[in-house]
Amino acid sequence: MQIQLQTQPIEAIEADAVAILAFEGKKDERFGLGELFDAGEISGKSFETTLLHRVPGLRARRLLVVGAGKPDKFNTAELRKAAGAALRFLKPRSIKNIVFFLDTDFSSAEHVCAAVEGAILGDFETDRYKSQKENGKQVESFAVAVAAGAPGLEDALRRGRIIAESQNLTRELANEPSNRLTPLLLAERARQMAGEEGLEFELLDQDRMKQLGMGALLGVAQGSAEPPVLIILRYKPAAAPHDGAHLGLVGKGVTFDSGGISIKPSDGMEKMKYDMSGGAAVIGAMRALARLKPPIPVTGLIPAVENMPGGRAQRPGDIVTSLSGKTVEVINTDAEGRLILADAITYAQRLGCTHLVDTATLTGAIVVALGHMNAGVFTNDEGLLDRVMHAAGVEGEKMWHMPLEEEYKEYLKSIFADLPNVGGRWGGAITAAWFLKEFADPTPWVHLDIAGTAWLEEGKPYLAKGPSGIPVRTFVHLAMNWKD
Ligand code: BES
Ligand code: ZN
Ligand code: ZN
Repeated sequence: MQIQLQTQPIEAIEADAVAILAFEGKKDERFGLGELFDAGEISGKSFETTLLHRVPGLRARRLLVVGAGKPDKFNTAELRKAAGAALRFLKPRSIKNIVFFLDTDFSSAEHVCAAVEGAILGDFETDRYKSQKENGKQVESFAVAVAAGAPGLEDALRRGRIIAESQNLTRELANEPSNRLTPLLLAERARQMAGEEGLEFELLDQDRMKQLGMGALLGVAQGSAEPPVLIILRYKPAAAPHDGAHLGLVGKGVTFDSGGISIKPSDGMEKMKYDMSGGAAVIGAMRALARLKPPIPVTGLIPAVENMPGGRAQRPGDIVTSLSGKTVEVINTDAEGRLILADAITYAQRLGCTHLVDTATLTGAIVVALGHMNAGVFTNDEGLLDRVMHAAGVEGEKMWHMPLEEEYKEYLKSIFADLPNVGGRWGGAITAAWFLKEFADPTPWVHLDIAGTAWLEEGKPYLAKGPSGIPVRTFVHLAMNWKD
């Protein structure tokens, strides 16, 4: 799909369809729409779509009126969704050339960027392995049009395209089945991306990890015939920042989570192909950062393993020694994410990362706590938390700050080792985060539990059902705005 910017009044636009926004309680009198507002046919409610043909006064063949909700609630996140909804409405109707017209009130660079993102994200489908494509129709071009040009709009268009395409790479990877995306194949995809984008790429293989003493990560991998890898992607800015900050992004890359010996019930187990969504988000974010060039060095680390119950699998009760030197009693082999992240976090510290953000489909408990709307956020540092929450807010990736107070340490005691890998029945997402904190401290660190948000169980008007690509935009915003 071609992405373009047009500067012209709406009347002059030539396209198969031109889309405009309609707001609740704000009657639009243009193009005879007033009558439809009065009749209640157009209400302006979010994602309402009204398609009109051959509208007098317009050159475009069709006018699509997209509901944008209440004017006082409208922001770039809503615009992103409206643009996605427009594309997903028009695409199955064989409409090839779409122009999304932005009225002067919301035609800033941020708006242009969000509209482009919405369209590209809306265009993504999960039909890669379908002979008959769900939606064999392709949109050829999507243009954002503004009545009056302003400096920075072309740049915003480019930014939006880079970010959304990168988020779609994350979604593509998360959607891959585990037979087609083993740890080594995930590394291969990351290597290819790094080569294309000019990022440094490094792999730690099993032998190297043994030498280093990554016992927590290796323990998880040993039940699988697929060897584990630690994928490292490096971005370095032309000039290092004055404050010496170095951001580390760590993503859980479990290419399949059977649970291991503590095996999961078969019902729904196929979903555990997306247990590498955190790793995929780091790969997607690194792609965007390679192109957008933030002012801060960023290192992406993806511990990639398959969690299987093979003959050499680790057993409940096994004690492993992590890279940090701390010993862990593996009570439940299904709590594997925290084990691989622990070693990756320690390694990130050794690489000189001064600030860490990890993301992982870590616990079912966060889904119980927050449902599928918010990712859970945990931290040992209020300053970094503020940065991450601000980035997530601007980008419309919903996140909720969860507690991680000293008291929770009570839940994580082992008789035989320094730590158990699970707590008791209560606060499962918190004990998982506490476990990570034991390794992250004292480095400022934020943990994003995306078990409930990495996969959309239902399609939305603006997004296909399946991988969401969260939190790529938050990562990109965080790095791009580091100096602010
Ligand atoms: N990958 C799962 C968590 C998960 C659950 C992701 C649902 C996506 C959707 C994780 O490795 C896991 O199995 N966690 C266990 C931990 C438990 C054994 C303490 C869980 O949440 O049940
Ligand atoms: Zn698990
Ligand atoms: Zn898992």
